[in-house]
Amino acid sequence: MNNTGLEHNQREQWASRLGFMLAAMGSAVGLGNIWRFSYVAGESGGGAFLLLYLVCVIFIGIPILMAEFTIGRHAKSDAVGSFQKLAPGRPYVIAGFMGVASAFIILSFYGVIAGWTLKYIVSYLTGQMGAAVASEEGVGAFFGGFISSPVEPIFWQFLFMIITISIVYMGVKKGIEKTNKILMPTLAVLVIILALYSMSLGGASEAFAFLFSPDWSIFTNPLDNTEVYLAALGQAFFSLSLGMGALITYGSYLSKNEKLPGAALGVASLDTTFAILAGLMIFPAVFAFGIDPAEGPGLVFVVLPEIFGSLGFVGTIVGLAFFFLIAAAALSSAVSLLEVAVAYFMRRFNWTRQKTSILIGGIIFLLGIPSSLGLGVMDQFTYIGERDFLDSMDFIASNIFLPLGGLIIALFAGWGWNKTEALKESDFGDTFLGNAWIFVLRYVAPIVIFVIFLQSSGILKILGFEL
Ligand code: PHE
Repeated sequence: MNNTGLEHNQREQWASRLGFMLAAMGSAVGLGNIWRFSYVAGESGGGAFLLLYLVCVIFIGIPILMAEFTIGRHAKSDAVGSFQKLAPGRPYVIAGFMGVASAFIILSFYGVIAGWTLKYIVSYLTGQMGAAVASEEGVGAFFGGFISSPVEPIFWQFLFMIITISIVYMGVKKGIEKTNKILMPTLAVLVIILALYSMSLGGASEAFAFLFSPDWSIFTNPLDNTEVYLAALGQAFFSLSLGMGALITYGSYLSKNEKLPGAALGVASLDTTFAILAGLMIFPAVFAFGIDPAEGPGLVFVVLPEIFGSLGFVGTIVGLAFFFLIAAAALSSAVSLLEVAVAYFMRRFNWTRQKTSILIGGIIFLLGIPSSLGLGVMDQFTYIGERDFLDSMDFIASNIFLPLGGLIIALFAGWGWNKTEALKESDFGDTFLGNAWIFVLRYVAPIVIFVIFLQSSGILKILGFEL
């Protein structure tokens, strides 16, 4: 069988260098920076989590990001095909299959949360949100009512998936490259203004203490704080779109004249800046309004409208703009998630892009329905501290599959690939930085990920380690 898929699928290319950067940034910046970062940081106690997260981004994230770009550009194939091409018959391809599976899992719940943002946009327009803010029960009750409705969230999830599918259907470069160029800077400006405003609400010092003074016992007593390590690792992978071949796929549409290290650094810095700014925007308001930072996935959907509500009429405009921008940021990430699966199935079965996006997008929509329902069902009873369906999907994909995929990608680029070739393809060449990169891929990243897995599975404790 011919698997190249070249019969009616000529491999596309980015229109420009900027187009690639924007698409990669669009993939990275999304719900992960605002929704997921704030809720996971809130649940994980703040400061120590943030520090561990930054360490994971710098020492594991950026090197693996470079590895994904390099593998993709060299192999010019999707997540699975790239390994089959560069390492035929060797087990590294498992990372590709896990990546495609992760795309299904992550997009299934991502579409649900993104659907909530669409609902919020419309609620600002219809005045429903204004009424909720003014009401005695507040936004929390509004949000709770919305997500416990069985049908409504599915409708919004469906709508979001339709938009995502249409973009992938048209091919990535036509719409998304241009849109991102305008949306990203606007979102950044808005987040900065809101962070400043939020800090003026009176919760700033508590928020600073929460975010920037880590609880050091997490470092002196790592075996009792295993969840925080795993959460930070998972968040770094999720936020950078790493470990599932999304950036292999995007790199595969790249021509040779891109300088990869600069691109990788640019994507990672922008992504991290967004997350920290989002923290500075959300946590002061969390404390000012007396909300529990460990509130969970609903955190920003309750906190943000409260901030906007305190701004009066201006708040309605800002709220509208804000949820619109989050939805747009989510869209460019969702597109990259769908593209991972679509690129694979297109090549593997020699289907057209059109057919593949509708089919795969449709399946992913259906897979998301339990996530959409699950949260609502749980919410009607009290929170019993268990994970519901959406949380479980998120946990399995983000904290297990992505880091495991990243581990295999690091092993492949560090050990499985010819070092000279890897250095040349990465644009590092035989420099100090290039050699440091290989060293991290060979030793640092695999060992750290492996140890965090052992630690969180409790094996280190069973083996009698006492740290
Ligand atoms: N990085 C995206 C976000 O922060 C999510 C994502 C994960 C996208 C994995 C692609 C691959 O929202």
